[in-house]
Amino acid sequence: TNAPVADVLAGKHPVASTVQVQGWVRTKRDSKAGLSFIALHDGSCFDPVQVVALNSLANYEDILRLTTGCSVRATGVVKQSEGAGQALEIEATNLEVVGWVENPDTYPMAAKRHSIEYLREHAHLRPRTNIIGAVTRVRNCLSQAIHRFFHEQGYCWISTPILTASDTEGAGEMFRVSTLDMMNIPTTDEGKVDYSQDFFGKETFLTVSGQLNVETYCTAMSKVYTFGPTFRAENSNTSRHLAEFWMIEPEVAFADLSTIAQLAEDLLKYVFKAVLTERADDMAFFQQRVNKDVISRMQSVVDSDFVRMDYSEAIEILQKSGKRFEFPVEWGVDLSSEHERYIAEEHVGAPVIMQNYPKDIKAFYMRINDDEKTVAAMDVLAPGIGEIIGGSQREERLDVFDRRLAEMKLSAEDYAWYRDLRKYGTVPHAGFGLGFERLVAYVTGVQNVRDVIPFPRTPGNANY
Ligand code: 4AD
Ligand code: MG
Repeated sequence: TNAPVADVLAGKHPVASTVQVQGWVRTKRDSKAGLSFIALHDGSCFDPVQVVALNSLANYEDILRLTTGCSVRATGVVKQSEGAGQALEIEATNLEVVGWVENPDTYPMAAKRHSIEYLREHAHLRPRTNIIGAVTRVRNCLSQAIHRFFHEQGYCWISTPILTASDTEGAGEMFRVSTLDMMNIPTTDEGKVDYSQDFFGKETFLTVSGQLNVETYCTAMSKVYTFGPTFRAENSNTSRHLAEFWMIEPEVAFADLSTIAQLAEDLLKYVFKAVLTERADDMAFFQQRVNKDVISRMQSVVDSDFVRMDYSEAIEILQKSGKRFEFPVEWGVDLSSEHERYIAEEHVGAPVIMQNYPKDIKAFYMRINDDEKTVAAMDVLAPGIGEIIGGSQREERLDVFDRRLAEMKLSAEDYAWYRDLRKYGTVPHAGFGLGFERLVAYVTGVQNVRDVIPFPRTPGNANY
């Protein structure tokens, strides 16, 4: 039976036992003494395993022709390694070439170091590299840890729909989904597109957030979360924006802003600890090759209390900083990433939970504070990346909610089902959205969210 490389290197197979490993050749070195050293990786851990092939093997001629990227199946005996760099190795008794690299000169993932931009252009082969392999394992570790955290705390995972008619964030950044014939679009008498003839009978989009749906389950199941893909047609070509990204959205009944601020802090600490213990191999690589601070800054997040700060206080700090920002600061403006980063990086030096934003820059569903000027919203700002979490207490008072809808010129009819939650046994409730790619970027130190998702979707790019 086959053994993952991770198990072999972890010593799960005793010295002198026979194992079979399968994977891809990362590098190969042939010694004059008539033996070859193959570094074989299978994705199960950072390090490849060294397979030693002696020229006494029947197909040694084939082994001499192996190049980076070939797939092989090796059976052999586990041995203490004499070479530097690894404790254990496998001395092959049989080595079968499963798939050749037809023309090694054209193989895009040569054993040398490629730029991260180059790897993006070969998204189908980039997981074979050290860096994307490590990102992929850390990403997996984080998603498993997130589910584990919520499961242990008694949350119910809700699958929210991807196709929807409602614009949760009200920002108009939605991808339209339609089965109408583009060459022959039906129109109404007023000359508008007649969506009543479309598949769902009305204009439909890809979801920007599962929040409104998960709120309905929250007001029955109490503690819920959704974890799925979300879509934004914002034309932002930045290192923090994707057109398709994954979001984790917990929603808690009988809860206020401070409940979910604490939940955000507990969740981040839990998943950071999980990565530090479960993926020490990959984190050591990121520390050495990507950002020397990745481990220490995660450790300090785990060890320290997050700072809570009101938006109004942040505005004062920014104004008194003496810094010249590209976007000038005054009470009422939306904080830009330079502002967020100044607060998190230079002023505090740790994650900040920014709270109570002006209502005019925030979404319709957020709960109005007693000052009537601000809403019970919070963002978690992390040094090095800025906003990774956005959340709020929701407006649970029907009369206040209706006033807000009217103020924002939104139709009560469109939100009839959402209003029902406030009519029948309403409760204070709150939740947030954690951007998964921003979390993975923060943890790995990788600068651009495009490099922490398997197939990035950005303006002009939906290949593969
Ligand atoms: O702040 P946002 O827009 O909040 C919501 O969608 C709420 N409905 C969440 C809730 O309360 N349940 O987005 C939440 C997070 C952001 O903090 C950011 O980390 C991430 O989602 N995000 C993006 N990540 C990558 N690319 C984009 N285009 C993103 N837009 C938001
Ligand atoms: Mg936000």
